[in-house]
Amino acid sequence: MLKGLVEENRSYRRFHQEVPVSLEALRELVDLGRLSASGANMQPLKYILSPEAERNAAIFETLGWAAYLKDWAGPEEGERPAAYIIVLGDTTVRKSFGVDPGIAAQSIMLGATEMGLGGCMLASIQHDALREALGIDQRYEILLVLALGKPKETVVIDPVGPDDDIKYWRDADGVHHVPKRALDEIIVG
Ligand SMILES: Cc1cc2nc3c(=O)[nH]c(=O)nc-3n(C[C@H](O)[C@H](O)[C@H](O)COP(=O)(O)O)c2cc1C
Repeated sequence: MLKGLVEENRSYRRFHQEVPVSLEALRELVDLGRLSASGANMQPLKYILSPEAERNAAIFETLGWAAYLKDWAGPEEGERPAAYIIVLGDTTVRKSFGVDPGIAAQSIMLGATEMGLGGCMLASIQHDALREALGIDQRYEILLVLALGKPKETVVIDPVGPDDDIKYWRDADGVHHVPKRALDEIIVG
């Protein structure tokens, strides 16, 4: 079951924007982050939730989408995320955050998948612009943005080919392909 969930938990970048994600759903997802492992159990992560259009629009402006898709500037209006979770590091708790944000983010994205949602972790963020737009206090480091919604695209996993090209790509039908390395390639000892 977990493998199925992990397989289904792809990065989605186009959504049915009109299908809302409730604040309650976002809170449930952050609860999965809260319950996840944290270095020294310091739990320095804090979160901003955005289930509403105006804030979503401000967040969207600060994000970089799918760098490998050179002729695609990101989702158009109508296909944008219905919600966001911004993962912050509270520098009054700890100065560096290690892998905590990745662990929490994966818990959140798996939970979203189980809810029938999909999304994308984004680290390509104009940090100063996002801080300014949302009035985020300097005590918080902006670590990740999680975009969420009802996916409006198909994403498939392919094996990495002999050319070793790991770049994701989109075919003529709009299907997004993600090459993954073979198990035997990544187990090196
Ligand atoms: C830490 C991290 C940061 C990422 N940042 C971005 C980003 O800024 N923009 C984006 O479009 N995708 C981003 N992604 C999504 C990756 O491109 C995606 O995970 C990768 O292409 C593999 O696809 P998959 O998630 O479906 O396995 C990020 C993923 C991770 C784990």
